[in-house]
Amino acid sequence: MTATTPAVPDQQRQVEDELVRRVLASFDDTPDPRLKEVMRALVRYLHAFIREVRPTEAEWQRAVDFLTAAGHLTTDRRQEFVLLSDVLGASMQTINVNHEAADGATEATVLGPFFVADSPEIPRGGDMAAGAPGEPCWIEGTVTDTAGDPVPGARLDVWEADADGLYDVQYDDGKLACRARLHTGDDGGYAFWGLTPTPYPVPHDGPVGALLRTTGRSPLRASHLHFMATAPGMRTLVTHIFVAGDGALDSDAVFGVKESLVRPFERQPAGTPAPGGRDLSGRSWSRVRFDIVLRRQ
Ligand code: BEZ
Ligand code: FE
Repeated sequence: MTATTPAVPDQQRQVEDELVRRVLASFDDTPDPRLKEVMRALVRYLHAFIREVRPTEAEWQRAVDFLTAAGHLTTDRRQEFVLLSDVLGASMQTINVNHEAADGATEATVLGPFFVADSPEIPRGGDMAAGAPGEPCWIEGTVTDTAGDPVPGARLDVWEADADGLYDVQYDDGKLACRARLHTGDDGGYAFWGLTPTPYPVPHDGPVGALLRTTGRSPLRASHLHFMATAPGMRTLVTHIFVAGDGALDSDAVFGVKESLVRPFERQPAGTPAPGGRDLSGRSWSRVRFDIVLRRQ
């Protein structure tokens, strides 16, 4: 690969080319062919980047300082490198290349840092909000395969932020809210109560937040509700639904929005009878339908 550099004198170009050649050759004896391929591509793109951008040594040090700060902030509860990958669109592109859009299957999007395995099971029509602040939302749909046949017993893990923009794992009191597990019935159907999703920021008190601010980018994620759908013989799907008309759809901080995942959340004025005869004590609520299509493995 040649850098799209401003014209560099011949002798200088040869010096730079020679270094790329030597670094590439240093991986010649890598026993694992995939690792060899990955490292050689990394070297080609990294050197092309340096030769195009031509960073000063102070700029390069700044990049090293940025990564050092990301490392210092990273713990088993806070992953600044994943967040960096997210805001650069790298997480989303990795999902794209691994989950080809095909056969009408529901598209995948980012998992995010707030998934918790083994959430409590709720029955069909149950409420995962558990008293968290926000407007109640009735979510229903089916899980089918790409031929349109229902997938009974599919496991759905669902989770979302409350109206204060917090996931339960960010609460101080360890309370569990706005997450649940449920299973589809014999008809492939499911339904549950949650909250109407609202926008919230990705963690932005670290170096990645500083990067967003310095570049004039918003830390907000478009309003969404997370789903993970798992069933024997089917490819696991990790996705969200997004709220049609949401102001952050075009500027989602992690590029997670796909047009096919945007759904109308129909607002229901206070007093509208709610599914299951739920008494909402004069509150408004919303409803949305999300039919999930899984691919066979
Ligand atoms: C989220 O959806 O919860 C999320 C995804 C990526 C980065 C931060 C948050
Ligand atoms: Fe989220």
